[in-house]
Amino acid sequence: MEKKPKVIVLGCGGRGKGAYARYIEMHPDEAEIVAVAEPRDYYRNSTGDAHHVPEEYRFRSWEEALSRPKFADAVLICTMDDMHEGPAVKAAELGYGILLEKPIAPTAEACRRIVAAVKKAGVPFAVCHVLRYTNSTRKIKELIAGGVIGDLVSIQRLEGVGHWHQAHSFVRGNWRNEKETSFMLLQKCCHDLDWIRYIMGVPCTRVQSFGSLHHFNAAGKPAGAADRCPDCPGEVESMCPYSAIKIYLRDRVCQGTKGWPTDVVTPDMTPEGVMKALREGPYGRCVYACDNDVVDNQVVNMEFEGKRTATLTMTAFCNDGRQTRIFGTRGSIQSDAKMIRVTEFLTGKVTEYEISKLADDTINSGHGGGDGGLMNAFLTALRTGDRSLILSGTDETLESHLMVFASEESRHTGKVLEPR
Ligand SMILES: NC(=O)c1ccc[n+]([C@@H]2O[C@H](COP(=O)([O-])OP(=O)(O)OC[C@H]3O[C@@H](n4cnc5c(N)ncnc54)[C@H](O)[C@@H]3O)[C@@H](O)[C@H]2O)c1
Repeated sequence: MEKKPKVIVLGCGGRGKGAYARYIEMHPDEAEIVAVAEPRDYYRNSTGDAHHVPEEYRFRSWEEALSRPKFADAVLICTMDDMHEGPAVKAAELGYGILLEKPIAPTAEACRRIVAAVKKAGVPFAVCHVLRYTNSTRKIKELIAGGVIGDLVSIQRLEGVGHWHQAHSFVRGNWRNEKETSFMLLQKCCHDLDWIRYIMGVPCTRVQSFGSLHHFNAAGKPAGAADRCPDCPGEVESMCPYSAIKIYLRDRVCQGTKGWPTDVVTPDMTPEGVMKALREGPYGRCVYACDNDVVDNQVVNMEFEGKRTATLTMTAFCNDGRQTRIFGTRGSIQSDAKMIRVTEFLTGKVTEYEISKLADDTINSGHGGGDGGLMNAFLTALRTGDRSLILSGTDETLESHLMVFASEESRHTGKVLEPR
């Protein structure tokens, strides 16, 4: 098919509308959105309007859209985690190409069922492991393949979630409670284990994990603190780095900074509007008096084929984002959001690559170019039939999800486990 692929967006929320429909809006030559499925009127219609989708192709659910015979080339599945299996299996049966948001599904069994359905149907399939598609990852892969660090021996990965981001999303916010969403390693770090697997280039043989909710619980509450920040005595509130008044008002709105994360707290981002939301809504709660249970720190030790090793540290208590060190027999690589630094042992030569200068303007967007890189790869694969462009297909993606499930089981049981 060398013509523009026709796609259906299933779920027009943060990812469906905000990342992927937006990508197509900015790259209209790469694909056409011919239908949307979304129960919320505003999100369904604003996405439909932006792409001139006729009324009869604006569905209220994925079930409604997929109850018709196939009428497009692919679906973009952007519903929440526990609503991936239904549309993925049905879309595969109908013969649609599938772009599926991560995680594949919340359990290993559901992941296996989805992958089996996709393989049976033989349709193009990409999981949104966007970090595989970033400019930085492409460069690191190229450096390793070029032999600059010799034989890759081990990887050290840090996911510094950030103290306020943890408080916002994982203590007060939507992803705080395992039963309501999923465990931290799956929701936040399936990207990291997948990335480590991708860079290693060989299967993981064993995992072991430890972790806990160390800080954000009743035991951490300072003497005299109230259950809501606006009710907290000034001398306690002003000494708390997690104070909602500090995070949303003093550090952002009062400095003229709006948008995420304050727009999640309230659409009225005036000081009065934010204060009202903190008095009444979930984001004003004391971080030591919430209904959160996801961990705030976790480590995973991994062994790979060829006796290679890797570690992941996920911690709330670091504001530096993702950082990586890759150790080889002839050199090492250090990287963060801004820079890749290569050290060669023989010559002592140090080479630095500025990540912003690696960006290709056509795919530069969210997640360090990963969102755009993924969409570009998936849509080009649909158009040309060259599926080798998809870096996050069935087998390796299932494998890295099984690493996540085994690691979490290890955290609970204390056992060293094989991911299968
Ligand atoms: N790749 C990444 O880096 C990344 C980042 C964030 C989120 N995600 C994943 O993307 C997915 C979506 O996350 P989000 O933040 O966009 O969530 P969201 O809640 O903003 O969007 C989900 C949308 O699905 C809609 N929906 C609910 N029931 C539906 C139905 N029956 N049919 C069709 N639509 C329905 C909801 O109304 C909502 O608009 C999740 O699986 C999440 O884990 C991935």
